[in-house]
Amino acid sequence: MAYSEKVVDHYENPRNVGKFDNSDDVGTGMVGAPACGDVMKLQIKVNPATGLIEDAKFKTYGCGSAIASSSLVTEWVKGKSLDEALTIKNTQIAEELALPPVKIHCSILAEDAIKAAVDDYRAKHAN
Ligand code: FES
Ligand code: FES
Repeated sequence: MAYSEKVVDHYENPRNVGKFDNSDDVGTGMVGAPACGDVMKLQIKVNPATGLIEDAKFKTYGCGSAIASSSLVTEWVKGKSLDEALTIKNTQIAEELALPPVKIHCSILAEDAIKAAVDDYRAKHAN
């Protein structure tokens, strides 16, 4: 099975790899794929004044498609509100990266990681 050019590009030049130190402005999502045991950690940094996601980082232990999916969503969420970030669908990720059916779960991992990061941020700010 050949990887698409976009997958290879994100795999070889992943955007936004790394982590933020934990703080009030950071939401962290860590999810695993039961299908293969891969793990994705994705963090968002929210500007408290605007409520918009100003930065995002990820670390993924997984296949090329999982790394490409997480790299792509860290680009997509920047500048978005939390509600907008929650509208990102794995089908959009899979379409953008031209993932084959056996790799769809890798894009689901990225959607789940974003949702978990937003949930974590909101839990920190609920009172
Ligand atoms: Fe784990 Fe994809 S099966 S790397
Ligand atoms: Fe499991 Fe890609 S995340 S094969």
